[in-house]
Amino acid sequence: MGTEVRVGPLADFPDGRLTGVEADGHRLIVARDGDEVCVARNQCPHLGFSLTRGPGGLKYEDGVVQCPWHNSRFNVCTGENLDWVTGFAGRRVPTWSRSVIALGRRPRGLDTLSTTVREGDVYVTV
Ligand code: FES
Repeated sequence: MGTEVRVGPLADFPDGRLTGVEADGHRLIVARDGDEVCVARNQCPHLGFSLTRGPGGLKYEDGVVQCPWHNSRFNVCTGENLDWVTGFAGRRVPTWSRSVIALGRRPRGLDTLSTTVREGDVYVTV
């Protein structure tokens, strides 16, 4: 049984964008597509780094975030891993070198959170 945390007003999250936010000590990413809002932890499952800050910058399109460190890509709503450690800072590296950068870590999905919008505010269960 989780605890419900208020993330913020829906109006704070621009449509079609990914926003990094901290709520009650939890670092989160919020993806909004119209009335649909998806929230996940702002922590790449590869090395635990931020998905919104890093050398490659914030990259988000059509519900998919790319890690700014080693380019892993994730569906923010489902958490599904779409690409795992393909380079550094947005640049791709040869396939043979990817396992070195991966440091032995196997592909994993994002930690997504159950999300509701109620009376104009976004809530998650942590
Ligand atoms: S920290 Fe995100 S892919 Fe390495």
